[in-house]
Amino acid sequence: MYICLEGIDGSGKTTQLERLGKWLGDCGFAVTRIREPTDSPVGMLIRKMLRSPSAQEESFQRTLALLFAADRTLIMDTISKEKEMKHVVLSDRSFYSSLAYQNGEEWITQINRYALKPDLVILLDLETETAISRCEGSDSFEEKNFLDNVRKRYLELADQHGFMVVNANNGVNKIHNDIKRIIAPKMGMCI
Ligand code: TYD
Repeated sequence: MYICLEGIDGSGKTTQLERLGKWLGDCGFAVTRIREPTDSPVGMLIRKMLRSPSAQEESFQRTLALLFAADRTLIMDTISKEKEMKHVVLSDRSFYSSLAYQNGEEWITQINRYALKPDLVILLDLETETAISRCEGSDSFEEKNFLDNVRKRYLELADQHGFMVVNANNGVNKIHNDIKRIIAPKMGMCI
């Protein structure tokens, strides 16, 4: 099973993925963690480029979309193999991040034609202000505007693609329990 957590920056994906990985491991599942951008040379280039002051400009975003697609394509074989071995693949972001963050749905879908779709997407949804207050050094008006749009887009995608939406304004434990309640029945577990 390929499970992915999505959400705007500061939504708490990393913390929740750690807790989720530990819980699934304790329940006896073999868990493989991945994240996008990955740790490949392309992923490292992306992380470097994201620090550029022009990172939110249109042409820059288009270039990033191509890099994100290339980086993602590199890990698809790994995901397929892990799934064949009945391992749980837990991912921080997926193809849907590109649909939420970059513009041009049709083009994004084309360049990601080799990307596997997660079996389950959980969207951590929260107020943009709260998310920004959790991220150091990113409290500009442009940042808020940008993330407001990304959040809106995520909620549209949730409707279109059947993501499970979790209220991430809550505390860490409550969010973890909400996520467990979504995943348990899909893995044949009772909690
Ligand atoms: P993030 O999950 O915040 O990584 P980390 O916390 O490890 O630095 O992802 C980095 C940024 O990349 C984040 O702002 C979202 C953005 N992003 C896209 O714009 N498109 C994509 O396809 C992906 C995977 C990420």
